[in-house]
Amino acid sequence: MTPAFERIRDAIAGDRAFMLALDGLVLGTPRSSAWYDEHLRAGHGLVAERDGVLAGFAIHHRHFFQRDFLALLIVEPWCRRSGVATTLLQAVEKRCTGADLFTSTNASNQTMRQALKKWGFRATGRIDNIDPGDPELVFVKKLSEGADFMSARQTKRGPT
Ligand SMILES: CC(C)(COP(=O)(O)OP(=O)(O)OC[C@H]1O[C@@H](n2cnc3c(N)ncnc32)[C@H](O)[C@@H]1OP(=O)(O)O)[C@@H](O)C(=O)NCCC(=O)NCCS
Repeated sequence: MTPAFERIRDAIAGDRAFMLALDGLVLGTPRSSAWYDEHLRAGHGLVAERDGVLAGFAIHHRHFFQRDFLALLIVEPWCRRSGVATTLLQAVEKRCTGADLFTSTNASNQTMRQALKKWGFRATGRIDNIDPGDPELVFVKKLSEGADFMSARQTKRGPT
């Protein structure tokens, strides 16, 4: 069997409809088209194509305490558990400018929690009162030591 060809590229405005449709399949409140427009304009999106077909996307930014944050990662149901999210995550990591990458997911999202564990993330906090009865768990992955200027600066300055 020929292996699937996967390509990761920057998301463009034309990918918004795909992102919104995929978002609608995921549990919880879907993000608005304005939310996507803002991230797409800012260049925060990556999409994965498998054999030329859109297969998934990631949104990554640095608005989370000025740290790299994986805000969203969704893969098409038809190609899940075949490495698409792993490839997207690797592309996100290459874009990170700090030493650590944060993300969060609902406590009930066992699949994402399993994936985060596999990718080397560890739990670092919990936020209540977002989805009733389903806390948001925060995770961090240490990417490389010594690259994060902001971390060093914030440590000196103390908490904000
Ligand atoms: C979570 C999600 C992005 C994973 O995407 P994916 O492309 O299927 O993930 P991968 O194939 O790269 O798998 C990576 C690892 O995740 C874990 N994983 C993925 N699917 C799993 C499942 N159904 N059950 C258990 N573990 C699973 C495994 O550890 C897997 O590694 P392995 O296959 O070598 O065991 C996908 O299931 C999804 O889009 N879910 C809905 C959206 C969502 O919840 N996003 C996360 C919050 S933003």
